[in-house]
Amino acid sequence: MSERKGYDETAGVEPDALEALAGKPGHVCPWWVAYLFDNPLRGRVHPPQELLAPYVREGMRVLDVGCGLGHFTLGMARMVGDAGRVTAVDVQARMLQLMLRRARRAGLAARIEAVQCAPRELGVPGPFDFALASNMLHESPDPERLLGLIRAALRPGGRLLAMEPSGHVDAARFEAELDMARRAGFALEGRPDIRRERSAVLLRPAEDAEGKQA
Ligand SMILES: C[S@@+](CC[C@H](N)C(=O)[O-])C[C@H]1O[C@@H](n2cnc3c(N)ncnc32)[C@H](O)[C@@H]1O
Repeated sequence: MSERKGYDETAGVEPDALEALAGKPGHVCPWWVAYLFDNPLRGRVHPPQELLAPYVREGMRVLDVGCGLGHFTLGMARMVGDAGRVTAVDVQARMLQLMLRRARRAGLAARIEAVQCAPRELGVPGPFDFALASNMLHESPDPERLLGLIRAALRPGGRLLAMEPSGHVDAARFEAELDMARRAGFALEGRPDIRRERSAVLLRPAEDAEGKQA
């Protein structure tokens, strides 16, 4: 059976049903649940090249935190080109294996580095030009610590796009995550309108404490 067929089988599943299956905040999404939302419909709802065009350019070094099956990892690998690099981090080895299989089939594996991290660590030093945390902060056991690690891994002036599923993470919880991001040293730069998501662009200021020392 081809890998593609697995995605096609779930293409008609209602998004609300997928959110209900995705588990409660604080739980790590199992790899088989990720197949339910990372299907061809996702490409239409969240086209990576469209959503990430303001942030990702050719030649960049970018980070995908909690990459899952790699919907955005592969999209960013296309955007950064041969001169760029995507570092994809996930706590689950199985997610990384499946993401890499998709990347190999798409001819993008040479642009991707896969790193398994511990739940409270990021596991990669950077520096990165851009970072994405898509639908994963609510699964972290310590999101404030993780946000601090992401900020430190960004170059001064680098940005993090944080997205959380709106059917799964309520507005108060997302605001609490943004407060954590501020305490971790980010400045809130914008709130892009992304379908079915709560989203924020977070800037590592060019002149923050560590930036001045660098
Ligand atoms: C709901 S999936 C989202 C996957 C992907 N970002 C996307 O939008 O399709 C959440 C992913 O975050 C990963 N994850 C959860 N906690 C994590 C942590 N503390 N550090 C790194 N990855 C984590 C899970 O293993 C899972 O692959």
